[in-house]
Amino acid sequence: MTELLVIGGGLLGGAVASASRERFRTAVTYNSHPLQVEGCATYQMDITGSVDLIRSLKPQYIVLTAAMTNVDACESDRIAAWKANALGPKNVALAARDIGAKLIHVSTDYVFDGERGMYREDDPTSPINYYGESKLAGESAVQDILEDYVIARTSVLYGWNPSRLNFVTWAVQEMGRGNKINIVNDQYNSPTLSSNLADMILSLKDETGIFHTAGSERISRYDFSLKIARAFGLDESLIIPISSDALNWKARRPRDSSLDISLVSSFSKPLNVEEGLKSMVKVAKQGMVT
Ligand SMILES: NC(=O)c1ccc[n+]([C@@H]2O[C@H](COP(=O)([O-])OP(=O)(O)OC[C@H]3O[C@@H](n4cnc5c(N)ncnc54)[C@H](OP(=O)(O)O)[C@@H]3O)[C@@H](O)[C@H]2O)c1
Repeated sequence: MTELLVIGGGLLGGAVASASRERFRTAVTYNSHPLQVEGCATYQMDITGSVDLIRSLKPQYIVLTAAMTNVDACESDRIAAWKANALGPKNVALAARDIGAKLIHVSTDYVFDGERGMYREDDPTSPINYYGESKLAGESAVQDILEDYVIARTSVLYGWNPSRLNFVTWAVQEMGRGNKINIVNDQYNSPTLSSNLADMILSLKDETGIFHTAGSERISRYDFSLKIARAFGLDESLIIPISSDALNWKARRPRDSSLDISLVSSFSKPLNVEEGLKSMVKVAKQGMVT
């Protein structure tokens, strides 16, 4: 019997499954990249198609982490983005309603336009790219279908992930090879360690509503990179600050999409950047990462 079903086996899905397996009989689904999480059953499921697996497993809790997360790819393939980020959550919410499961749906800081920063849960949303628009449509679908749900909005995820690079693992890899990296100094957000987010999500499982679940520090990408270099003992002179105007991104990025985490702080402890990076370094030293 599955008590908690994690949908999506990416950076966050793996972290939630690892955190949950101690407390709940946990299953995790993947789409095109099979994964193994010790102690968890795994299944294939595409949330844009049939989600009858959810109805047959009948979990008490569902954590929906699956999404199309490449912001530029969402801009160029809007149909695929809509399917994964809006239709998928709708399908999952309908199945959750059928079996009376609690859905915790993971969303993004990119539902905001980034003109102000330090957004609270009740601030007006106004996405400036299609990723944000499609994720906001996913939030709306969940809210329309379910009365008892959690929407957990997060920001710039990082952590160890054997199958795909994220900002921190990419920066460590490049600087470790002695390569210079160009990093924007005019974009701010709230970097979030995936295992810390997993703990925040599990602490909210019996709450209802929208929660900002992110790291506790608002920081520019450039300053974040400097802290990465210091934490991993790398040469910070390899980091070249640039303006985002110099980059030819397909999708616009919010200037400051940092999140106010006051609400979630009464349930768990969001980490600042140094604490998050220290935790990653510790895992690496214990030899748990190759
Ligand atoms: N990464 C960030 O910086 C960031 C920032 C803010 C919010 N978020 C949100 O946080 C959540 C988790 O992000 P993440 O970094 O863990 O993402 P990720 O590493 O890119 O993983 C996304 C997962 O979703 C799965 N997926 C994609 N389309 C699917 C479909 N149609 N059916 C089933 N599974 C599908 C992918 O499976 P396959 O690879 O097997 O296809 C992948 O395992 C997402 O909801 C994202 O929007 C992320």
